[in-house]
Amino acid sequence: MSAWNTGKVIEHKQWSESLHSLYVESDIESFEAGQFVKIALTINGEIIGRPYSLVNPPGSRLSEFYYIEVPNGPLTARLSTLRPGDEILVAPKAHGFLILDELPPSRHLWMMATGTGIGPFLSILATDKPWTRFERVVLVYAVRYVSELSYQERIAQLYAKHSRQFSFIPFVSREAVDLTLTGRIPQAILDGKLEMHAGIEFSAENSQVMLCGNPQMVKDTSNVLIARGLKKNRRFDPGHITVENYW
Ligand SMILES: Cc1cc2nc3c(=O)[nH]c(=O)nc-3n(C[C@H](O)[C@H](O)[C@H](O)COP(=O)(O)OP(=O)(O)OC[C@H]3O[C@@H](n4cnc5c(N)ncnc54)[C@H](O)[C@@H]3O)c2cc1C
Ligand SMILES: NC(=O)c1ccc[n+]([C@@H]2O[C@H](COP(=O)([O-])OP(=O)(O)OC[C@H]3O[C@@H](n4cnc5c(N)ncnc54)[C@H](OP(=O)(O)O)[C@@H]3O)[C@@H](O)[C@H]2O)c1
Repeated sequence: MSAWNTGKVIEHKQWSESLHSLYVESDIESFEAGQFVKIALTINGEIIGRPYSLVNPPGSRLSEFYYIEVPNGPLTARLSTLRPGDEILVAPKAHGFLILDELPPSRHLWMMATGTGIGPFLSILATDKPWTRFERVVLVYAVRYVSELSYQERIAQLYAKHSRQFSFIPFVSREAVDLTLTGRIPQAILDGKLEMHAGIEFSAENSQVMLCGNPQMVKDTSNVLIARGLKKNRRFDPGHITVENYW
């Protein structure tokens, strides 16, 4: 099997100066919500590929990728030039363990993302699994500026469908905005604000926590939760904290 399939860009949505979603037609083997695939472009004769989470749930016609154009990023600078009809290389097989099947049974599911780390959670939340497996589902989404809280319409639709089970808690760290928490996730766990807003508490008995995005957030949040009695979830040593670092 070839390492890459050639896909076609169907839509390029720009949310802000640096945030984009690409909708791509390509053949991907069946995957689990929460997984990622590598996508690539040929740049100066070399194939440059990076992993990206699938934002769409399994079974969608198009693959959806949500990315931020990072300063001097070799791939993202070029992704941003893509237009409908352009070709893009997509690996045929998805990978990754940020999936619900890796989580032991529990009552409460917490999904906490910084920036583009929201992508895999939107994929998972579009499936039936979280809603049949957990009594409560809390989505925490932390960005620097309110304009970076993408996918609000999709989150509102989830809320409309699952209002008794679902809490959405946005954080905006670099400006004061009504109806959002300020500051960072770990501090809001330490001072009790996050649990107060969710109306449930973290506990080893009842919580499963998924973390995705900035590796420093993943580390700092894990440490705060470990101090609360939770532990990392490993396949051969089940626990409560399942993570994916984006860099
Ligand atoms: C498993 C996995 C899944 C990923 N999924 C996504 C995704 O869905 N969307 C996405 O935008 N990125 C995702 N990434 C990061 C992505 O693979 C690239 O690293 C990123 O798009 C930048 O590519 P680049 O070639 O332009 O720059 P790179 O040379 O790869 O990165 C340059 C620097 O940019 C910063 N950076 C990289 N990614 C991000 C990010 N997402 N948010 C903020 N800063 C970042 C880091 O400081 C990094 O060192 C994922 C990474 C991993 C490991
Ligand atoms: N966001 C922008 O305006 C912008 C624009 C163009 C390019 N970029 C580039 O994109 C990258 C950053 O993208 P991003 O804004 O999505 O990601 P980010 O830097 O990871 O910030 C996203 C959120 O994570 C928080 N965070 C950072 N470190 C944390 C930690 N240790 N614990 C808990 N929370 C933490 C941030 O809070 P703090 O605000 O407190 O750090 C912010 O609320 C950089 O390469 C940047 O240069 C960003």
